[in-house]
Amino acid sequence: MVLLAAAVCNKTGKALLSRQFVDMTRSRVEGLLASFPKLMTTGKQHTFVETESVRYVYQPIDKIYMVLLTTRNSNILEDLETLRLFARVIPEYCKVLDEADVIKNAFSLIFAFDEIVALGYRENVSLAQIRTFTEMDSQEERIQMALRQTQEREAKEASKRKAKELTQLRKDAAKTGRGMPAGMGGMGGGGHGISASSPVSTPIVESRVDEKPAYTSSRQVTSGKAMKLGTKGKDVDQFVDKLQSEGERVMSSTSTQVRSAAETPAQSAASAGKESVHIESKEDIKLSAGRDGGLENMEITGVLSFRVSDERMARLALKIDLGNERTQIQLHPKFDKEKWRAEGIAALKNPEEAFPLNNEISILKWRLQTTEESEIPLAINCWPSEAGKGCSVNIEYTLNNEDVELRDVVITIPIPPGTGSPVVGSCDGAYSYERSALHWQIPLVDASNNSGTMEFSTPGGKPSGFFPVKVDFTSSTSLLGVTIDEIVTATTDEPVKFSTDHKLNVSKYEIV
Ligand SMILES: *[C@@H]1O[C@H](CO)[C@@H](O)[C@H](O)[C@H]1NC(C)=O
Ligand SMILES: *[C@@H]1O[C@H](CO)[C@@H](O)[C@H](O)[C@H]1NC(C)=O
Ligand SMILES: *[C@@H]1O[C@H](CO)[C@@H](O)[C@H](O)[C@H]1NC(C)=O
Repeated sequence: MVLLAAAVCNKTGKALLSRQFVDMTRSRVEGLLASFPKLMTTGKQHTFVETESVRYVYQPIDKIYMVLLTTRNSNILEDLETLRLFARVIPEYCKVLDEADVIKNAFSLIFAFDEIVALGYRENVSLAQIRTFTEMDSQEERIQMALRQTQEREAKEASKRKAKELTQLRKDAAKTGRGMPAGMGGMGGGGHGISASSPVSTPIVESRVDEKPAYTSSRQVTSGKAMKLGTKGKDVDQFVDKLQSEGERVMSSTSTQVRSAAETPAQSAASAGKESVHIESKEDIKLSAGRDGGLENMEITGVLSFRVSDERMARLALKIDLGNERTQIQLHPKFDKEKWRAEGIAALKNPEEAFPLNNEISILKWRLQTTEESEIPLAINCWPSEAGKGCSVNIEYTLNNEDVELRDVVITIPIPPGTGSPVVGSCDGAYSYERSALHWQIPLVDASNNSGTMEFSTPGGKPSGFFPVKVDFTSSTSLLGVTIDEIVTATTDEPVKFSTDHKLNVSKYEIV
């Protein structure tokens, strides 16, 4: 299949957004889309139309059309398959499927379109994958910005040095009464002329900037080279202009990123007490289990990032243990995938490259989604039964994953109005009764003390009233067992001291 462009247009063929995958002018795309509604035979449910030069493969979605422009000799079955994937992406980013919403979310959509193509559209790419990669790319852009600033700083310093050297040479020349040494003459009028042309090699910046368009997830658009929608810079400006004219707030400056980098001295001062290599990981769990057992769904996502505050430590490789084998992993695209697969080591493709200082860099994301009951970290068994006019409730927790230590566990059981105050018979840990719920608190659950029970009764109520039971806790290690085994210098393989910090957020943990 030769995909020329993926576009979203309205019923009259007005282009709302279009991503071109070949060199194609804006007017050509707009022209093709404008003539598209006329080609459709009204009333019939077709999915493609052809002209002499192109094929339109399309799908109506409410008031808009998802349209792929392909060559005529591409495989129509593949085209349709791809179309479906593109079409599924739209509701992911737009709640209301109308013109305004498409324009509002244009950058997210274009980014997602790019990922479909980048991931190879014939593969069975899931929406979750697209989302992950899209988020990852905006993270990558942040790194680019930081690297570019480092590069600019280095360039400035280099030019200062050169200027000094030149001044010295001139002085020397004046003293000895000779002219400038051969080879220096071409550099011209003093230090200023040099800085503009001083080449500074920072390959990590160059490659990324030229290859791919860069957008941030917050829909800020960076100006200049980094921002390329089509293959021509001019198209970009026009596209941005167009969005602006249609009400999109487009920020055309990099000032926000510059500011965040300027804050770094203060930030590094604030991080006193941490090692100069500091690892931060965050995990989030969403879990919903049935009251009669069974896991409806569990999703654990995590991200690992690190911050280097010492220049001597800026070239690093991280040995990471992934723990649970079924966890899906995304490594930052700048890292060497082969090394990762073979050795579990996260290192930049080029070991000579330095990480930008004082910037939080995400290198790894992970996700486990499962309905496998045995994966529940802390199982809750809540067993209410009728007792006379009221209820008797037995409730128990069991730590299934004995590799983790859960702290500040709070199990909250609702006590609906009309149930009356609960009378607690026995309880491991502490409890309180407030805000129409019984809060059962256990300071620590670990392998050495992995279960506990509580019994209470109520003067009224129904057994079904004690749900959903909600659980909250913290953990200072990854629930999935993602851990950093070792950090070494990338070139000399020497161990580096580092500090870690793990945060768990329980977004949802309910027995319903
Ligand atoms: C695509 O992936 C989904 C979920 O991973 C799977 O159910 C489906 O069978 C796959 N389709 C093909 C054609 O591989
Ligand atoms: C286990 O933990 C519970 C709840 O904190 C506590 O009441 C109990 O004393 C602990 N048992 C042991 C053997 O430490
Ligand atoms: C953390 O959990 C709360 C609910 O407890 C949720 O509202 C919030 O969005 C979560 N934060 C993140 C970063 O996922």
